[in-house]
Amino acid sequence: TAGTTRVVAIDGPAGTGKSSVSKLLADKVGASYLDTGAMYRAVTLAVLDAGVALDDPAGIARVVDAVDIELIPNGDGSSTVLLDGRDVSGPIRTDHVTSAVSAVSAVPEVRTKLVALQRQNAQGRFVVVEGRDIGTVVFPAADVKIFLTATPEARADRRHKQNLAAGRDSDYAAVLDSVNRRDHLDSTRAVSPLRAADDAVVVDTSDKTLMEVLDELSGLVETRIGVS
Ligand code: DC
Repeated sequence: TAGTTRVVAIDGPAGTGKSSVSKLLADKVGASYLDTGAMYRAVTLAVLDAGVALDDPAGIARVVDAVDIELIPNGDGSSTVLLDGRDVSGPIRTDHVTSAVSAVSAVPEVRTKLVALQRQNAQGRFVVVEGRDIGTVVFPAADVKIFLTATPEARADRRHKQNLAAGRDSDYAAVLDSVNRRDHLDSTRAVSPLRAADDAVVVDTSDKTLMEVLDELSGLVETRIGVS
């Protein structure tokens, strides 16, 4: 039975704690969680696997036209990402994919296909949708729009600590450099640049714990949608 579509849009750059808080928020308010970054990562993996160059938008458009992407919720907040039926949940998180995803996600045909898939996924559901252009482009009429920010230093510091905790080599200066580079690419691209919607609530997470941010966001959802 199709219910009403209710959308909580959560946008912002990497390193703001966006993914962690989006998953917890979905769980807390009884919504599903949709990770749109995972979709862009899956297309990027397909492009790399096909051996298509990152400066070949026509080749990238042909790849995205042919692929089938599915996100299957695991029931614990995470999802399994299927690329043509193959589980790519692990491979889409590698540095190889991370460094190529900005180029792939700037191709208009990629965005057109994934935006349609995101709207289809949310149809008739209560969903927390995390991404970069959710409040501006994908769901301009979302019930709640949140834009998370944090200083580049706070974001680089989080990423650096995550790397160390995961046992990966990490150099703070290099991480800060890559944060700034990705911000620049994502906010200056021609299609759907990263920016806060005019009616988004902007939350700076630099000096807040995950639980403080979660409480603030669930308060907003409760006020706007009437659930908690
Ligand atoms: O959130 P993430 O780091 O997994 O996202 C990976 C990349 O995908 C990010 O660098 C920008 C792109 N992206 C996008 O362009 N639009 C979205 N709605 C989500 C992600």
